[in-house]
Amino acid sequence: MTVRHFLSLDDLGRSGIHAVIDAAIAAKRQPANDRPLVGQTLAMVFEKASTRTRVSFEAGMTRLGGHAIFLSPGDTQIGRGEPVADTARVLSGMCDAVMIRNHSHTVLEQFAAHSRVPVINGLTDRLHPCQLLADLQTYVEHRGDIAGRTVAWIGDGNNMCHSYINAARLLGFDLRVATPNGYGPDADIVARGGDRVTLCDSAHSAADGADLVVTDVWASMGDEDSQAARLAAFADFQVNDALMDCAADNALFMHCLPAHRGEEVSAAVIDGPASVVWDEAENRLHAQMALLRELMVPAAS
Ligand code: CP
Ligand code: NVA
Repeated sequence: MTVRHFLSLDDLGRSGIHAVIDAAIAAKRQPANDRPLVGQTLAMVFEKASTRTRVSFEAGMTRLGGHAIFLSPGDTQIGRGEPVADTARVLSGMCDAVMIRNHSHTVLEQFAAHSRVPVINGLTDRLHPCQLLADLQTYVEHRGDIAGRTVAWIGDGNNMCHSYINAARLLGFDLRVATPNGYGPDADIVARGGDRVTLCDSAHSAADGADLVVTDVWASMGDEDSQAARLAAFADFQVNDALMDCAADNALFMHCLPAHRGEEVSAAVIDGPASVVWDEAENRLHAQMALLRELMVPAAS
């Protein structure tokens, strides 16, 4: 049987994304009483820091009746150079699924190629698809179907931006991306986004009339060395009240968190009425529980 991984949103496809989001919304409203993952173990490999991803996967496995193991390079042979293919073979012989947050998307793909159990992308340098499931769930809960809507991505053309481009292509919303010169998204990902993606030369032109405004940190994990240069380059790309005033009257604001108030977003916006960041963070749990069911419970797939 082919193993189903979740390395990018494309692994679920349009109908699969809708199914996971709908299941997440339903289970959040009325939690199921079943424990479908009793006896099952999720290995969680973190090469980078995490609060939401770690806690939501661990709590989700607990609620589903299973167990999660936290693994970091400092405590395992991964950090001492054991080959990724060897680690994948070993973990997939003992665990029922593996969630990985690492620096290199290529390494994630290598791991998945050697894994006999589902591998879930918990964030790489290229993509953060689990966060998109939560963001899309949050939009649907607040405003309904996102198809045909306009979303503004403001800031860095990073892993989150890439996943928004993929989501726009798969779910049929228009994405306007505003980044400083030199910090744009990957050209191949933009090209695959086709007509759904517009690169804008200013934050205001991207936010004009938008239904949803999204940003993220200016320096992602791994970009710390360029932090000072980024602070200068991104100065005109803060989401603040003036920018939100350009958006649609009922526009929402999202941020995957952690946030830096006063940098990519003002305190007035992230703590203000348009912000749905706390629902968005909580929905990591609900969306990923639906994802775990989809990948780990045969009857549900
Ligand atoms: N948004 C997100 O992935 O948060 P963590 O880095 O805390 O997991
Ligand atoms: N773009 C950020 C997201 C953190 C959840 C990073 O990669 O650090």
